[in-house]
Amino acid sequence: MPDLHLGLAGVGRIGAMHAANIATTAGVARLTLADVDAGRAGTVAASLTGGTAEVRATDGVESLLRSGIDGLVIASGTAAHPELIRAGVDAGIPVLCEKPVAPDVASSLPVLEHVAARGGVVRIGHQRRHDAGYREAKRAFDAGELGWLHAVRAVTCDAAPPPVAFIATSGGLFRDCSVHDFDVLRWITGREVVEVWARGSNNGDPEIGRVGDVDSALAVCTLDDGTLAVVTASRYNGAGHDVRLELQGSRGTLLVGMDDAMAVRSAEAGVSFPAGPAHTTFAERFAAAYRAEVAAFVALVEGTGEDDLCRPEDAVAASRVADAAQDSLVKGVPVQVEPLA
Ligand SMILES: NC(=O)c1ccc[n+]([C@@H]2O[C@H](COP(=O)([O-])OP(=O)(O)OC[C@H]3O[C@@H](n4cnc5c(N)ncnc54)[C@H](O)[C@@H]3O)[C@@H](O)[C@H]2O)c1
Repeated sequence: MPDLHLGLAGVGRIGAMHAANIATTAGVARLTLADVDAGRAGTVAASLTGGTAEVRATDGVESLLRSGIDGLVIASGTAAHPELIRAGVDAGIPVLCEKPVAPDVASSLPVLEHVAARGGVVRIGHQRRHDAGYREAKRAFDAGELGWLHAVRAVTCDAAPPPVAFIATSGGLFRDCSVHDFDVLRWITGREVVEVWARGSNNGDPEIGRVGDVDSALAVCTLDDGTLAVVTASRYNGAGHDVRLELQGSRGTLLVGMDDAMAVRSAEAGVSFPAGPAHTTFAERFAAAYRAEVAAFVALVEGTGEDDLCRPEDAVAASRVADAAQDSLVKGVPVQVEPLA
């Protein structure tokens, strides 16, 4: 197996986790970190001395790109994704960028054009595609074990909100959280969402409303074969970090996320399932999926593996549903989702 040198741009909340995963991924010999906050890059590098890769920090993205890296992972804030994707593509190296491609669909489309024009290899971090439960759901649906779907219910709830400063730049609850559900909805069913009707509420910290977001939301989605899906999200789920997908079909029903760490309790007498404790954060819930995603990117850089990472066109298609949900939320009416040209 070749010894790769990977670069990572952005080592905040999720970037620091990716750094730790990359530093212990087979095939990676060196990892170089860059962040606009150079001190943060140095601190994260210093904390990663026990892995299989040599980790060091550099003083910026330009020097990162000049350091001979074989692949670039981007975990900066969303606003910097377009410029960093372009920089990686222009350097001729494969890129794995955290979701989304850009803050909204309008600013994503020029990035897709640039990637296509340069023949760039870019994949987007939708880690649920690497989660064992979501993969089993796709396998079962594709195999016909569920029949046709009469109801899909997707849940993404944080136990507690992230800082309001992050929420202010997140694009809203649908673009930040539900976009994962919109992605798996398309990925598992192979259908397009054609209409979204969304509602939201603010019963938590009033600051979230003041920065223009809701803290809880619901979207009713209609797929192009008529299948109905309900996607719900909240920043205030005291029972824990709750991520579930229920596929209810004519032949069978399957629930992703139904294990002892599911953040619910039964109302039935004598039922002790789930035994707990519940998941508390996305990093914990998807720890194995994030590792599998990085391993898939390493395989892509090496030219091995099946390359089942999310394509940028699919990520933008999911963002298009999130944009429509946000639009519906603001306007109070159902919104049609225009297909990607
Ligand atoms: N897949 C998931 O489950 C998931 C979860 C959380 C966040 N995310 C995505 O990850 C990204 C980062 O989120 P976060 O919560 O870690 O944010 P964060 O604010 O904690 O960290 C972002 C980091 O990027 C750095 N940065 C900003 N601009 C940069 C640039 N031009 N070059 C290098 N570094 C730069 C910042 O200094 C900061 O350290 C967001 O796009 C978010 O949507 C994905």
